[in-house]
Amino acid sequence: MGMDRDIAEVLYSEEELKRRVAALGAQISRDYADKEDVVLVGILRGSYIFLADLSRYITIPCRIDFMAASSYGKGTSSSGQIEIKKDLSDSINGAHVILVEDILDSGNTLDYLTKTLSVRNPASIRICTLLDKPERRTKPISADYYGFLVPDAFVVGYGLDFAEKYRNLPYIGILKPEVYEK
Ligand code: IMP
Ligand code: MG
Repeated sequence: MGMDRDIAEVLYSEEELKRRVAALGAQISRDYADKEDVVLVGILRGSYIFLADLSRYITIPCRIDFMAASSYGKGTSSSGQIEIKKDLSDSINGAHVILVEDILDSGNTLDYLTKTLSVRNPASIRICTLLDKPERRTKPISADYYGFLVPDAFVVGYGLDFAEKYRNLPYIGILKPEVYEK
């Protein structure tokens, strides 16, 4: 019944997530203190909880916008083919864009999105990802801000899903392989 029984190990508890996200928010507030028109772009759907929490620890004025991209289907690794399912609502011309992502894995998604957005004349683009799995990178892309470096295991919770489930777990855990090998 409960989701907890599908979790092999808790990686980051609610408390640990809160502390780390607060620190990221403070750092971004300092780094962008003198910037005008800062836009946090949440990459749907995985970033929805991270963005909601992070934005409340950012103390400077900023806009919030969203994009949705998909590459995964129902598996546990990127297909490499990125499709934009929802574009930004507003212009980023002259804006300082911070892409807010749940996890940087192969890098396909953020490589594609940064290329797509950079031709719209933003003043800057940076990447803020909650989790970073550097071992799996196939694209030359890195995070400007990251919460945690994670081992090469499939993780869920705090927005991250497997086949659209587990996003609403309040912590981040490693999914039992038997769940996705079924
Ligand atoms: P990339 O394009 O391979 O960097 O993958 C980025 C996307 O893959 C993320 O936004 C996630 O939706 C998904 N993803 C990658 N690794 C995991 C994981 O361990 N758990 C859940 N989703 C993941
Ligand atoms: Mg996903």
